Amino acid sequence: MTRLPPDVQEQLLAAAREIRPRAYVPYSGFHVGAAVLAGGEIFQGVNVENASYPVSTCAERSAIVQAVAAGHTEIDAVAVVADAEDPTPPCGMCRQALNEFGPDMLVICEGARGNQEAWMLSTILASAFGPANLRE
Ligand code: THU
Repeated sequence: MTRLPPDVQEQLLAAAREIRPRAYVPYSGFHVGAAVLAGGEIFQGVNVENASYPVSTCAERSAIVQAVAAGHTEIDAVAVVADAEDPTPPCGMCRQALNEFGPDMLVICEGARGNQEAWMLSTILASAFGPANLRE
């Protein structure tokens, strides 16, 4: 997917903005909100940190869990809004997690001034390892 209808894109970003304050970030103080579009529905997630730092979960993976728990295994787009001037792109682990559910999904990130960047996931996770590699 290379583009979303403008109203859907705005709804997705609004969902990520709305949920961001619920991030549990006592260690980094870096609030991230994410929203994924699956089956025409929007699912939100936040980053949830842990005193054992590596146990922490990113916002994108929280949103994926919500979508999958609701029965979706195809994701069309993800929006990410963080506490940063520049748009925050998904980390490498989240790119891999997203790839499972839509290698060609649209990734939209927004910075503090409403500045946005967008890519196809396959552009920012080239030559990805995915389900097909296990079927060979
Ligand atoms: N974080 C996300 O939630 N998503 C990303 O793609 C980048 C990083 C979170 C993890 C951690 O809670 C905080 O941001 C600082 O790394």
